[in-house]
Amino acid sequence: MSVSMKTNQYDAIVLSSASEKDAQAMLVERLQSNPLPNDELLANLGLFLTSKNLSRLLFFYEIYRKIVHTHGIIVEFGVRWGQTLSLMAALRGILEPFNRHRKIVGFDTFTGFVGLSAKDGDKCRCCDGSFAVTDDYEDYLAQILALQEQLNPMNHIRRFELVKGDAIVTVPQYFDRHPETIVSLAIFDFDIYAPTKAALEALKPHLSKGSILVFDELCDDIFPGETVAVREVFGLGALRFERFPMTSRVSYAVIE
Ligand SMILES: C[S@@+](CC[C@H](N)C(=O)[O-])C[C@H]1O[C@@H](n2cnc3c(N)ncnc32)[C@H](O)[C@@H]1O
Repeated sequence: MSVSMKTNQYDAIVLSSASEKDAQAMLVERLQSNPLPNDELLANLGLFLTSKNLSRLLFFYEIYRKIVHTHGIIVEFGVRWGQTLSLMAALRGILEPFNRHRKIVGFDTFTGFVGLSAKDGDKCRCCDGSFAVTDDYEDYLAQILALQEQLNPMNHIRRFELVKGDAIVTVPQYFDRHPETIVSLAIFDFDIYAPTKAALEALKPHLSKGSILVFDELCDDIFPGETVAVREVFGLGALRFERFPMTSRVSYAVIE
């Protein structure tokens, strides 16, 4: 599948310049035709990490370092292919391999956007179903996350969960099922208003001082709904939004 097809098929909005897209396409081609032996592939994936992609990983490394002394779970609202969940599992293995309570939970329809509304504006050119993944992708992702756990200590205790369905229903249900939950880190990446607002409202009673909220689309004119949801649930003046210079889009706030 070519890069341009992928972009069209999955509705990803790509702001890269033409020369960046060319270079990225060539890198993907080199990845697909790589001559590395299988047993050296994982150890050499850095070959294909661009500064842009690496900066996002470094952002999450810095964020994870901030929660190691807080008690609670990690949730991601909007999982898609699941790279961030997998990265979190790897960082847990590095930074706190014996933290039994650090469960990692991801919420997604796995069939794309559900609940686009007028509050999302018309700039993103998306519709319900945009950003869908392939059929049964959640089963594939569960296998990847199980393998991540297998490669780290305490691998006899499953510490991840994928929750499939519309977040408006599934997030409140999750917290009803798990009233013991404290959330140390919540990553917001639904992009759109309705599920973000529902998740913020359900999450709020489960935050404590020191909990961190990460946002992927705050102050973003392509996806205004995320900011509107945060404004309606917390009020922008109630949170201090910070960022790292290495990443443009992602921001975070620590509950004070
Ligand atoms: C931009 S993608 C997430 C990307 C992912 N966080 C990453 O780092 O690669 C947005 C995701 O939100 C999900 N989503 C949108 N509306 C939803 C809803 N109402 N309930 C659950 N998931 C939803 C979509 O299916 C999509 O996978």
